[in-house]
Amino acid sequence: MKAEQLWSLFGAEAPYEAWAFGDAPDKLAQLVLQGIKTATASSYPLYEQEGEPIPRPGEYSVILDSEDEAVCIIRDTKVTVIPYREVTAEHAFKEGEGDRSLAYWQEVHEPFFTSEMEEGGLTFTEDMPVVCEEFEVVFRPTLEDEVRVFFAGDATGHDWFHTLRVVRLSRSIAREEQADEELCALAALLHDVDDYKLTGGGFGETTNARRLMKKYGIAEETQQAVVDIIRKISFKGTDTEVPGSLEGKVVQDADRLDAMGAIGIARTFAFGGSRGQAMYDPAVKPQPDKTAEEYKTYSSTTINHFYEKLLLLKDMMNTETARTLAQHRHKVMEDFLTEFYEEWG
Ligand code: ADP
Ligand code: NI
Repeated sequence: MKAEQLWSLFGAEAPYEAWAFGDAPDKLAQLVLQGIKTATASSYPLYEQEGEPIPRPGEYSVILDSEDEAVCIIRDTKVTVIPYREVTAEHAFKEGEGDRSLAYWQEVHEPFFTSEMEEGGLTFTEDMPVVCEEFEVVFRPTLEDEVRVFFAGDATGHDWFHTLRVVRLSRSIAREEQADEELCALAALLHDVDDYKLTGGGFGETTNARRLMKKYGIAEETQQAVVDIIRKISFKGTDTEVPGSLEGKVVQDADRLDAMGAIGIARTFAFGGSRGQAMYDPAVKPQPDKTAEEYKTYSSTTINHFYEKLLLLKDMMNTETARTLAQHRHKVMEDFLTEFYEEWG
């Protein structure tokens, strides 16, 4: 998520700056998140040159990574300005880098300050005043926050609450089927973040899921398991796939259950409206049995979508638990269609 989005999640009415650490932004941001890095240092003359005030205790910053993604919010607790040569071992320790010694701090900061000062047309000396800032992390988003922000404002039926329902359904099916509940919940949480309809990408992409899992330190093995699931769960007409793992089957079932029943009906009309699709046209007949590529570009009426996908789902469930749940939801859709045609006249 971006700095403004993280700031609005935090909910404080105060000014803030957003910035990335100048040297190794990703590594240093991770150290801040881990609570190892609680201080930083910057060249005082550069603030003077820019006419910028130095930070003050109580001020907030959003820490960014190298891709301008917001990592966390910190608040300054202490700011001192001292000559480079007087920076203490205690400060070096709080910077949390390398072996946390003063010698290591000097080893990395001297070349860093030298080149930073050169860029500003200035020269580094050991007498240069350094702004030593100490801070605390006051807000760190969760992976769930990231996904919630990602889907904010969606009006296609793929909003955050869809993902949340799929997470909950996946958990309950996983318990019944004795699948790995946490893996199901994680895959469900990320199942739509690379959906081609929302991102404009291709089938089976996993860029966003990978980026988010990496950012939140998910183990490589788990990342791979999640990616294997979400690549395959989408409905693609006659090219529809079934994930190999039990966990994938569970999440696919949960996603499909949320496409059925009263909520499924509501989501379908929301999607149709968002794409400017007609609700119903008796002259336009349903065309099931499309291949993945045909399905992707094809547009019809929203009522036709029931015959092209929604009414087929009950026979496509992978698990016994979902098959049972699907019966009632299927009936709700059939009853809805009966009423719909009756009122249509
Ligand atoms: P999957 O979750 O298998 O990727 P989709 O994302 O394609 O499935 O579909 C999710 C929901 O979006 C569908 O159940 C339906 O409510 C809606 N939807 C998708 N395509 C259409 C369409 N062409 N017309 C109406 N609704 C659609
Ligand atoms: Ni979905």
